[in-house]
Amino acid sequence: MTAPIQTSANAASGAVASGKAFGASAASATAGASGAAAANPASAASGAAVSAGVSASAPAAAVVERPLTHFRTLPVSVKVNGEIVGPTDVPAGLMMIDFLHEYLHLTGSRLGCGQGICHACVVIVDKPDGTSEEVRTCITGANFFHGKTIRTIEGHAKRNEAGEVVELSPIQQKFLEHFSFQCGYCTPGFVNAATVLIERLKRQPIGKDQVEQTITEALNDHICRCTGYVRYYEAVKEVVMTTPGLVKEAA
Ligand code: FES
Ligand code: FES
Repeated sequence: MTAPIQTSANAASGAVASGKAFGASAASATAGASGAAAANPASAASGAAVSAGVSASAPAAAVVERPLTHFRTLPVSVKVNGEIVGPTDVPAGLMMIDFLHEYLHLTGSRLGCGQGICHACVVIVDKPDGTSEEVRTCITGANFFHGKTIRTIEGHAKRNEAGEVVELSPIQQKFLEHFSFQCGYCTPGFVNAATVLIERLKRQPIGKDQVEQTITEALNDHICRCTGYVRYYEAVKEVVMTTPGLVKEAA
């Protein structure tokens, strides 16, 4: 007598858990038992017990809430492309790339390798001393950026009040003119890397003889699966050579 009752209870729990109407399950279970009763009185007795089990001992509806996971949370408040967002409590292990995608809906930063190798996911961090640097968001927690100022690929172009792009940044424009990218997956990372380079050269101009090596080193960490390296390089070199004040005649 025990087994059928347990079975009914489990079925009831399952129905509740799956969002089905418990009454409907009980009714069909009872109907099934009635049908069987005509052919087999023994099973009718059993069926009655089943029905009784469902309707009476259904406190099994004691569905216990058991959260599958428990997150420690940390606050994130960050200035992104000129606007402060947060503070928002996020899971302690949340990577910045996921915060950008899932919380801010800024999906321009690309998740490539997810292991800190390809640099497709970098954003620019603007530091208090006026310098800027790239940071990989696939291996850096969102909380690391708490209180910081960052730029993502969405923040480079100038926009009008309606949010429409009205002017690309010099790097974006030259990438376009050189048709530097193919699939474009790596492009946000290259734009950020080249932008950090240009900003550094504005502070610390280099000699003409250092241009090639400096650009190569600045872009070197970025992987392009479409192998568009030459055109990226050429576009950045044109910006470096045509922007006043970045290159000195001699080092
Ligand atoms: S996705 Fe971040 S380094 Fe590759
Ligand atoms: S353009 Fe396709 S990965 Fe670089």
